[in-house]
Amino acid sequence: MTGLSDSFQRPINYLRISVTDRCNLRCTYCMPAAGVSLTSHRDILTYEEIYTIAKAAAELGIDKIRITGGEPLVRSGLPKLIQMLAQIDTMDEIALTTNGTLLSRYAAELKSAGLQRVNISLDTLRQDKFKFITCGDNNLGDVLKGIEVARSVGLNPVKLNTVVMAGINDDELLDFATKTINEEWHVRFIELMPLVDEETIASQFVSVSEVRQRLELLGELEPCLPSAGNGPAKYFRFPHARGTIGFITPVSEHFCFNCNRLRLTADGQLRLCLLSDDEVDLKQPLRSGISSAGLKELIEEAVARKPLRHHLAEGDTPKDRPFCQVGG
Ligand code: 5AD
Ligand code: SF4
Repeated sequence: MTGLSDSFQRPINYLRISVTDRCNLRCTYCMPAAGVSLTSHRDILTYEEIYTIAKAAAELGIDKIRITGGEPLVRSGLPKLIQMLAQIDTMDEIALTTNGTLLSRYAAELKSAGLQRVNISLDTLRQDKFKFITCGDNNLGDVLKGIEVARSVGLNPVKLNTVVMAGINDDELLDFATKTINEEWHVRFIELMPLVDEETIASQFVSVSEVRQRLELLGELEPCLPSAGNGPAKYFRFPHARGTIGFITPVSEHFCFNCNRLRLTADGQLRLCLLSDDEVDLKQPLRSGISSAGLKELIEEAVARKPLRHHLAEGDTPKDRPFCQVGG
């Protein structure tokens, strides 16, 4: 195996697989208020098709997979897919990004199927605000329980993703930070990307440098290594803290020079960059009986077409697909 690298000599070893565009929440920054049209079932890759693509990608050098959505746990039988992917013997890591609402129900089964880690979206620690951010009568307690159960079955380290929004949850920055001191919480603060309702979002943006300044009221943040993974977050901890704080800066400082990833959408398109509309169709060739060698050629073509970087800071956002279909 030689490994994949793109035309900018970036090694590509990570595939994010969206298994559904459906979600049981409607977070303001992710889902347009008017809703999105959902892909019909026959256009969604089957687990067998996902496995075939993952296997071909693994033979080219992909050794990390993350399952995303929409919300991946609304698709039935997800542990079965994890079990199939875990059989690929060169696979180093299988992780999941979830909103956590259904996690307490599935965590044990996912773990025994071969899942190693979870990232859980958690933007607030307050029930009233949780309902506001997720636009519905949703229960924060389900997510908190999901976090506990994930930890107790060994899906560690559990990382929490917190999108910071001025006037919405930025009054809770210190509450989240305190959790990382007293408990083994790994909180990653993410800059809000202007992907839905750009005007509202622009007024809610808080840069990571400002977040960091506000957190330092609690003490000096010391740089530290990530507890797992090799994504775009930079990690810190307060002296003697049990957990860590990560910062992800998609807007103020792009991290594309380290990009190591491809994305597979639920409808079978290899997406070359989170923030660019260019995609390579794998579904049609797969359903027309393409060989494994042919599939690998298409994956290589996609990798070769990866753009150097996104242009979010210049106001360039993807238009062809709502972000909730891309899985973060
Ligand atoms: N800005 C920043 N992060 C986002 N996510 C989704 N939409 C946005 C956005 N507009 C991330 C969140 C969410 C995950 C699924 O994707 O972390 O938890
Ligand atoms: Fe669903 Fe995640 Fe988007 Fe929220 S951010 S609407 S939980 S896919």
